[in-house]
Amino acid sequence: KPRVLSGIQPTADSFHLGNYLGAVRQWVALQETHDAFYFLADLHAITVEHDPKLLRKRTRASAAQLLALGLDPERATLFAQSQVHEHAELGWVMQCLTGFGEASRMTQFKDKSAKQAMVSVGLFTYPVLQAADILLYRPQYVPVGEDQRQHLELTRDLAQRFNSRFGKTFQPPEPFILKDTAKIFDLQDPSAKMSKSASSPGGIVELLDDPKVSAKKIRSAVTDAGREVVFDPENKPGVSNLLGIYSALTDRGIADLQNAYDGKGYGDLKKDLAEVVAEFVTPVRAQVKSYLDDPAELDKILRRGAERAREVAAATLSRVYDKVGFLR
Ligand code: TYM
Repeated sequence: KPRVLSGIQPTADSFHLGNYLGAVRQWVALQETHDAFYFLADLHAITVEHDPKLLRKRTRASAAQLLALGLDPERATLFAQSQVHEHAELGWVMQCLTGFGEASRMTQFKDKSAKQAMVSVGLFTYPVLQAADILLYRPQYVPVGEDQRQHLELTRDLAQRFNSRFGKTFQPPEPFILKDTAKIFDLQDPSAKMSKSASSPGGIVELLDDPKVSAKKIRSAVTDAGREVVFDPENKPGVSNLLGIYSALTDRGIADLQNAYDGKGYGDLKKDLAEVVAEFVTPVRAQVKSYLDDPAELDKILRRGAERAREVAAATLSRVYDKVGFLR
């Protein structure tokens, strides 16, 4: 089976629709056909100031959400990044291969650092650790949203650079990005991506929100001039975003939805989308609750995942240490 790997940061109480449609939904599908590794990027979560108690809580809550959304720890390897120390170790080697200028060009770093009072060196080298996360498992594909594309490019560059300096070790991995859901937009600002850290609370639909709260956010989503419900991202980014979410959650094509809303208005679309979202999140919320009732079981699942992950990670790291000339 070809291998896939991806990660998500446990930096919010809830995932949002962008995380689910852009990434996690593909993770669940790929566990059927691929040797899948998915992890909670807790090392990345401390690149900005954080509260330890909250991080622990959110790491468990993130695991619970992944399970509730359909990840099966028997079929996919699910773990917390910090429990596989090889991530930090390969991260160091990769830092020594990354140019300062190259790291300075990462657009997510520029965006995030502009918002921090103190910009840590860890935030600067964040994408390099991400490259290590990926290369440790030698995956073919990395299922992510569009915002991770530049980090995947860096990963490929570092893989090639390592190979040319030290001999063939890594196969550069491909991003796996589905066009239709690559970028879900902020409901209040449809020119920006829906984001845990950047969106206003009204702009993100959180999976664990009460569906009544989500309905209200959807009702007050910024729409566009005109009245027709048509998919036109250029001129009608707000309505197109709602249609994109609707289509993804129901598997109904955009053309089908446009026909169904012919002669109706934005209000009808929003009302129906709120129902679609409620139907989707209601069982997920219940499942998350029941997973969180048994944190010891969650921790056990993650520990087992880390053991499996470490078998692969340790083998890669050992080869890397040998190639760079460390005594073995
Ligand atoms: P994170 O935690 O920000 O997001 C997790 C996943 O959700 C996707 N995503 C979106 N997709 C579509 N529309 C949106 N509005 C949207 N917002 C988020 C992200 O693209 C991502 O796939 N750096 C990563 C975590 C990471 C990682 C890795 C990923 C660390 N190491 C190795 C892959 C491989 C991040 O911050 O994702």
